[in-house]
Amino acid sequence: MDRADLVVVANRLPVDRVVDTDGTETWRRSPGGLVTALEQVMAKTDGAWVGWGGKADLDIEPFDFEGTLLVPVPLSAEDLKYYYEGFSNGTIWPLYHDVIAAPVYRRSWWDAYVRVNRRFAEAAAEVADQEGFVWVQDYQLQLVPQMLRELRPDLTIGYFHHIPFPAYGLYSQLPWRRQVLEGLLGADVLGFQRVADAGNFQRSVRRIFKYPTRANEIEVPAGDGGSRSVIAAPFPISIDAQAFIELSQRPDIRARAVEIREQLGNPKKILLGVDRLDYTKGIRHRLKAFGELLDDGAVTVGEVALVQIASPSRPGVEAYQDLRDEIELTVGRINGDYDTMHHTAIRYLHQGFPREEMVALYLAADVMLITALRDGMNLVAKEYVAVRTDNRGVLVLSEFAGAADELTTALLVNPHDIDGMKDLILRAINMPEAEQSRRMRAMRRKVLENDVEAWGRSFMKAVDAVRNKRATGA
Ligand code: G6P
Repeated sequence: MDRADLVVVANRLPVDRVVDTDGTETWRRSPGGLVTALEQVMAKTDGAWVGWGGKADLDIEPFDFEGTLLVPVPLSAEDLKYYYEGFSNGTIWPLYHDVIAAPVYRRSWWDAYVRVNRRFAEAAAEVADQEGFVWVQDYQLQLVPQMLRELRPDLTIGYFHHIPFPAYGLYSQLPWRRQVLEGLLGADVLGFQRVADAGNFQRSVRRIFKYPTRANEIEVPAGDGGSRSVIAAPFPISIDAQAFIELSQRPDIRARAVEIREQLGNPKKILLGVDRLDYTKGIRHRLKAFGELLDDGAVTVGEVALVQIASPSRPGVEAYQDLRDEIELTVGRINGDYDTMHHTAIRYLHQGFPREEMVALYLAADVMLITALRDGMNLVAKEYVAVRTDNRGVLVLSEFAGAADELTTALLVNPHDIDGMKDLILRAINMPEAEQSRRMRAMRRKVLENDVEAWGRSFMKAVDAVRNKRATGA
């Protein structure tokens, strides 16, 4: 097998399997943010990507896809149940999102997490070139950095954490809190979304191991009696803003935005929510606020329409099934009370859409509602801002999304405060154009400056500093 100088390790490969009409299987690039984020870094070198192929028991040889070597890691149905649905999405995901849902601690899930993380580490160790760089992604693979360091001490190892890192008071619930930190500290550079996440991580390391920390560095004892410094710093992720702007200028997409408004019955204002169907996104809170505004008579159907895209996610996890039931019951009740023969209060779509349709929706939306109870970053916020080249539109953004650290001229909302959210939605609906423009301009400046290329560059700069230090023996 060819060796690669840059290896990305992520739970999923950057492609989806598609079956053609004649029954043959091919691969198509997945539309997700992580893929576009890393695409730019990968384009500069001979890269490999280690990840799961998206289907149980898929055991296929590594293959080339548009110049990147893809290395599939097979996962059985049992691995998926215990490692993916279990420990990753039933333990870590809720714990790291401030226990919005109750985390479940099961020893059998932990055992599977260790076993599967080792498999990813072994695959990466096999494909990485001598003294190459391996970049591990996200919470499903927190043990990989340390496992990989043991297998391949010659490598430089980075890790990026896409979701929040919780405060010590919550993190300390985890029965395997020491092992997870040890796993992460195997990296040379640890990237987090927000200053607060990097700070929470450092505090947990200090409380549990008493390792000294200064600024962004942690001194970790090394086997030889000396120590090794690990960088733990914020690197807020972003989007390919230019690509979104280009889509927003396409005549067919602009025409589609006009058509969407017509199809909704030409309401005066369109409100939009775009989320994975996840309990962290605050969809229930948003629906509650909107339902009460209808009850109060503050908004009326026909004048205001809410479009809620909720893309299907993790259907095997019970908390997601329960959430879906609850949301669909609520939407059904509100629509039942307020729909007319011509108009619907909430247009709810439990579907995923291609990027072109998303951009048309962003262009059609007068108000974008992001009301997450906790969110690592929320790239939808940045996408909405990027496409609004006319500087119109209002972003209502949760204080608890990482994006709020940068997009400070959004209407920042505490989604737990339903009255406060109702007031802000009304303010957004009625905001004068001059104010919309002032707020949007400032946000667009931020997103265009700090795009995904800048993100990749700043992370790689930190990695190169470590590599240079090593090469010069400093
Ligand atoms: C979040 C996580 C990603 C994950 C994505 C989709 O953004 O940070 O690591 O890939 O959700 O979730 P899924 O479980 O379908 O991969």
